Amino acid sequence: MWKGRLAIASLLLVSLLAGLSMCAIRGASNDQLEVYSWWTGPGEEEGLAAMAKAFEAANPGVRFVNAAVSGGAGSNAKAILASRLLANDPPDSYQRHAGLELLDDVRSGKVHDVSDLYDEQGWREVFPKGLLDNLTIDGKIYAVPVNIHRANLLWYNPQTLRDLGIQEPPKNWAEFLAQAEAIQAKGKVALAVGPEWTQKHLMETVLLGELGPNGYESLFNGNLAWTTPQVSSALDTFAKVLAVSDVKSASGDWQPQIDRVVQGSAVYAVMGDWASNYLEQTKKLRFGETYGAVASPGTDGVYDFLSDSFTLPTGARRPDLSRKWLVECGSAAGQNLFNPLKGSIPARTDADAALYQGYLGWALQQWRDPKTRIVGSLTHGVVANNAYNAEIDSALGLFVQHGDLGKFARTVQQQFRETQ
Ligand code: GAL
Repeated sequence: MWKGRLAIASLLLVSLLAGLSMCAIRGASNDQLEVYSWWTGPGEEEGLAAMAKAFEAANPGVRFVNAAVSGGAGSNAKAILASRLLANDPPDSYQRHAGLELLDDVRSGKVHDVSDLYDEQGWREVFPKGLLDNLTIDGKIYAVPVNIHRANLLWYNPQTLRDLGIQEPPKNWAEFLAQAEAIQAKGKVALAVGPEWTQKHLMETVLLGELGPNGYESLFNGNLAWTTPQVSSALDTFAKVLAVSDVKSASGDWQPQIDRVVQGSAVYAVMGDWASNYLEQTKKLRFGETYGAVASPGTDGVYDFLSDSFTLPTGARRPDLSRKWLVECGSAAGQNLFNPLKGSIPARTDADAALYQGYLGWALQQWRDPKTRIVGSLTHGVVANNAYNAEIDSALGLFVQHGDLGKFARTVQQQFRETQ
């Protein structure tokens, strides 16, 4: 009898405690906003923190939870996010690139249409039309862009060029390969690369430089096959470029890749312009003096763009707070806080240009120049959906190991058809 009462009493106590702790969890989640990104490096972390602080100030009592997962280009974050979305455990907002990277989420109902925020905030007038087109799927807009990055840049240390007697960085890949021969003869590495995604980033810029912007775009809209002689020849250049890089020994992410250029053991690196902030804030170097950046070979006047954007996931715990976060991301104040620290330029056309100096001043001027030709990045989600991008990753990994270009081109071509 007593045993029975004790058992019932303990059951009640357990359920009471469980109930209390559920309330505690719910209570906590009510007052917090979990934002998911891959910004853990110098500069990007500070940029995010600045926006987080502004968000908390505008929403007293709400805690900003930074759920960033490290790994350049989202190399780890995207996989973890995929499993969270599959388990219906989304963060309250997550980072995606503008462009086809959003497509799967939209098709599988993982994100909400936020077109009404665009109307409410007047964003259709302040974001460039091309960018809006990249955020629109079936007439609806699914993410809010916070910045613009440029992918096609060649970084160097001017002192290294002087030491080697190199007058100026190469204007095309043939010139690069000629310089590389002389560089290797002097015992240095011509090009630093990093992990797999940086190799794809490099391939993207070689294709752009060799095929030109029209050819590059045709590869991704199906008008140019990867197996044509023109593309084979561009891929052959890519293979030659890889051969004079440190791909066999490279380790670490994009920062160590850039470090080798700063130290002078490698002469060049192709990387996106998040490198500018790393060079300026972390390495204390100055654009045009102690570090240099030019359009990657063969791409002068072309801006290979990408844009970091944030979403409103289906099942976000407090959609009202998620929307407030999106307003922060899309606001002029938020963009002007974030971008000078992040090393990117604002997505808004009306942001304060005076805040963007040095490299960023040049980037803004190039982006706004009507003569500039804008194309979208492959590696950073603009021109290929996730399934196609993943297939390119696998094929590229095999190519880097075994060097079979024909097989690479055939696989990528076939996968283009299968993943559309
Ligand atoms: C890109 C992203 C940038 C930067 C970079 C390196 O995909 O858009 O903001 O994070 O990766 O991690």
